[in-house]
Amino acid sequence: MPRTIIVGSGSEIAKNKITNDTLSKVMDTTDAWIRERSGVETRYYVDAGTSTSDLGVIAAERAIENSGTAREDIDLVISATMTPDYFFPGNSGIYQTRLGLRQIPCFDIRQQCTGFLYGLQLADAHIRSGLAGTVLLVGAEVHTGFMPFSPKSWDVIHGRDPGPVSAEDFEWNSRFRNLIVLFGDGASAVVLKANEEGDEGIVETILCGDGKDLDKLYVPGTGFRSRPYTSAEQLARGDHVPVMDGRAVFRMATTRMIEVANEVMKRHRVTVADLSLVLMHQANMRINEYCAKQLGIPAEKIVHNIERYGNTTAATIPLLFDEAARGGKVKKGDLILMVAFGAGMNWGATLMRA
Ligand code: ACO
Repeated sequence: MPRTIIVGSGSEIAKNKITNDTLSKVMDTTDAWIRERSGVETRYYVDAGTSTSDLGVIAAERAIENSGTAREDIDLVISATMTPDYFFPGNSGIYQTRLGLRQIPCFDIRQQCTGFLYGLQLADAHIRSGLAGTVLLVGAEVHTGFMPFSPKSWDVIHGRDPGPVSAEDFEWNSRFRNLIVLFGDGASAVVLKANEEGDEGIVETILCGDGKDLDKLYVPGTGFRSRPYTSAEQLARGDHVPVMDGRAVFRMATTRMIEVANEVMKRHRVTVADLSLVLMHQANMRINEYCAKQLGIPAEKIVHNIERYGNTTAATIPLLFDEAARGGKVKKGDLILMVAFGAGMNWGATLMRA
């Protein structure tokens, strides 16, 4: 059976760099709190009107170019996002059309921060079974749509207004501060193909899911439990903004990421010493430092980008991969471990030989 290999990658980050100090102008937070508790120093926001697929198309174009693949050779497109352009349909068909691909199968998957690893598994299954020869997988997010800021707050954030915002706005924005400060907008994509010779490629992906803690991180409104599924009342309550029990998610993320990383290594008789690179989802630097310590992974084997981009959900792991690959940190034959945990709850790990 062939193995699935990443033959190209590409990324696109939103254009507006937003510092912690900027956010502290519109909500009750500080640069020190955000750095210390999460590791985030800056994140990037799109301009209003720029969508997830706008970033995703650019990332995909770069990945296709980087892979040297002809667009007509792509057999399958997978979009992983929790912030699609429309409630339905998902973004995969938008990628198919905007990238000029053939009328191929288009999958949309919604596994939040573990979306990229779920996408890898889907691509791997199609490639190894012979259903597809070349797959495009795009992880992209525009989280700013979740942010419940008034036009005035947005003007202050984007530097069009020196502020201050009204006391009412400040209080409203602060209600969501534990979540808002963590996220940024970005996209990244990979092209995957079959490797018929050698052992390079995905060794295994282990995926897990458990819905019982759904309410620890979810969006309470704009869903079909309500009739109509969205309303002015929901917006006024802030039900369109994700709700997160940060401490509970922190505990689950550390436990599950350590568990699944150990499991995939054990199954293939691999130890940390055999790994060249570890790509962990970037929700909180402290989560990753804790996991690295427990797993015994030295700092030089880990790449991170949370300090620059914040949490970019489905885009995070491919962004780490793309930056590492372009920076010469991924060498043929290297063993790479990818680990993620996110809303759902979903988590997983991929072991891959570059
Ligand atoms: N600025 C200042 N103070 C804040 C902020 C902020 N941005 N946010 C919260 N606080 C306050 C709280 O109100 C609380 O104040 P209190 O003690 O007076 O009540 C205090 O800081 C401590 O709050 P905690 O929530 O206990 O802070 P914690 O150290 O846990 O950090 C954080 C919060 C960063 C959210 C952390 O819990 C975390 O990262 N959790 C996991 C996130 C994650 O993994 N998400 C999954 C991926 S995302 C996805 O799947 C979409």
